[in-house]
Amino acid sequence: MASLSMAPVNIFRHGADEEKAETARLSSFVGAIAIGDLVKSTLGPKGMDKILLSGGKGGTVTVTNDGATILKAIGVDNPAAKVLVDMSKVQDDEVGDGTTSVTVLAAELLREAELLIARKIHPQTIISGWRKATLAAREALRDAAADHSNDPARFQEDLLNISRTTLSSKLLTHHKDHFAKLAVDAVMRLKGSGNLEAIHVIKKLGASLTDSYLDEGFLLDKKIGVNQPKRLENANILIANTGMDTDKIKIFGSRVRVDSTAKVAEIELAEKQKMKEKVDRILKHGINCFINRQLIYNYPEQLFAQAGVMAIEHADFAGVERLALVTGGEITSTFDHPELVKLGRCKLIEEVMIGEDTLIHFSGVAMGEACTVVLRGATQQILDEAERSLHDALCVLAQTVKEPRTVYGGGCSEMLMAKVVSDLANRTPGKEAAAMESFAKALRMLPTIIADNAGYDSADLVAQLRAAHQDNKTTFGLNMSNGTIGDMVELGITESFQVKRQMLLSASEAAEMILRVDNIIKAAPRKRVPDHHPC
Ligand SMILES: *[C@@H]1O[C@H](CO)[C@@H](O)[C@H](O)[C@H]1NC(C)=O
Ligand SMILES: *[C@@H]1O[C@H](CO)[C@@H](O)[C@H](O)[C@H]1NC(C)=O
Ligand SMILES: *[C@@H]1O[C@H](CO)[C@@H](O)[C@H](O)[C@H]1NC(C)=O
Ligand SMILES: *[C@@H]1O[C@H](CO)[C@@H](O)[C@H](O)[C@H]1NC(C)=O
Repeated sequence: MASLSMAPVNIFRHGADEEKAETARLSSFVGAIAIGDLVKSTLGPKGMDKILLSGGKGGTVTVTNDGATILKAIGVDNPAAKVLVDMSKVQDDEVGDGTTSVTVLAAELLREAELLIARKIHPQTIISGWRKATLAAREALRDAAADHSNDPARFQEDLLNISRTTLSSKLLTHHKDHFAKLAVDAVMRLKGSGNLEAIHVIKKLGASLTDSYLDEGFLLDKKIGVNQPKRLENANILIANTGMDTDKIKIFGSRVRVDSTAKVAEIELAEKQKMKEKVDRILKHGINCFINRQLIYNYPEQLFAQAGVMAIEHADFAGVERLALVTGGEITSTFDHPELVKLGRCKLIEEVMIGEDTLIHFSGVAMGEACTVVLRGATQQILDEAERSLHDALCVLAQTVKEPRTVYGGGCSEMLMAKVVSDLANRTPGKEAAAMESFAKALRMLPTIIADNAGYDSADLVAQLRAAHQDNKTTFGLNMSNGTIGDMVELGITESFQVKRQMLLSASEAAEMILRVDNIIKAAPRKRVPDHHPC
């Protein structure tokens, strides 16, 4: 039989490119592991922060240890790295926390896979072993989860401990008792609706983080017009998005031809008359407060003042939307049918001082659960990071109200899952067992990294933890106050079951997806076709 020898055939269009099995897999592993290595130093209560500098002129500085924020900021070119970045985004959107853990776990799984492949274990064998491991780990996690939702006092304590655990790996760790309580109070106001929209966070430079507080009602960072009432009880609020600036006619931009200044005055008068009619139509709504997204010029401002109506101009879009939500009103831009317009209502509007600034406070709003968190801090970076941390805590708490099961943190849940997976590996014949064992190893890497980040002897601590779990001490984890192991029940390191489960499932799914790759095909850059259609 004659063997045909052929020159390699390139089936791709010029510019397209292909990486075959070994190199493709290698570049995937390298990319994914690099992403894991990038964020892993931020893991745990003693993790480090990163500074993100945005490029270009007037680049901003962000100091953060939030995995999702870091990964959003870096632009990655490696396809496998992109998968992990997207996965962390999903984790952030769905459960709001655990973005670093999920990335680190996926990267550690791939680090293990690289070793298995070097031992000539086929990717499909690895995947099948991992799937069984994931299933076993998930069951173990479910069995370990506790549900205290039928005991309100206990559940409240659970929430407080979860909040504290979430905050302890973030900037707010030094004030975690203060903020944990604040976050729980805010979420408890929602009464199970889980609508985080009702919680408004405003940031005010000055004072210190511990001066942050939770305020009932809504705060708007705007000014009340001159000569208008500064305090209103039983307010009827019309929220509008309309132009109130026609008292200054734009002579120069328009094509009005006039031969004398008298004519200009005439036109101005006509415009004024129109504006007066508009204000009258607005006043027909029987309101005592008018809030506009756009500017309100002097003349209409005077008219509102004469009518004793409070008018607030130029409330930003988010402010107006939220105000409509919490006062139960609707944003309006036409005023011909007062009977069809839903007005917002609240018991009291008044000015309050925060630091040096005057803000407008709406209390007793229609949406009773609405509240505002006022964050104080010395620099903009601190405020921004505090907001991110608080947001994570709020997300996790809102999740927990819906899915009240809890598990223990501090590496405890990971060790628990690793033990079950290891046990399963011991009972499994063949090469799948190696894949399962590597899954357990990847799980144990999380407490290892948490301990490493604090400068503790991670090998020793994780070995102690393994022994403890072998000894049926299934609530043992890392005691980060002095680098020992301890009972998480005593320490109150509680986490949300939902977040942990999502971390396990997302990480194993993403790692599997990357492992399945044996080809990376880069599409040829699109050529510009010289025709009239711009596409
Ligand atoms: C741990 O618990 C299992 C089952 O509950 C039991 O069989 C085993 O003997 C226990 N091990 C130790 C060290 O207590
Ligand atoms: C922490 O550990 C160090 C050394 O291991 C010891 O000297 C110190 O007393 C410990 N602190 C506490 C609070 O246990
Ligand atoms: C955790 O470590 C601290 C400091 O060493 C110690 O005081 C505390 O009792 C430990 N807690 C547990 C539950 O082991
Ligand atoms: C909450 O944490 C405290 C320690 O901060 C602990 O004593 C308590 O048992 C924990 N509560 C629950 C319900 O786990």
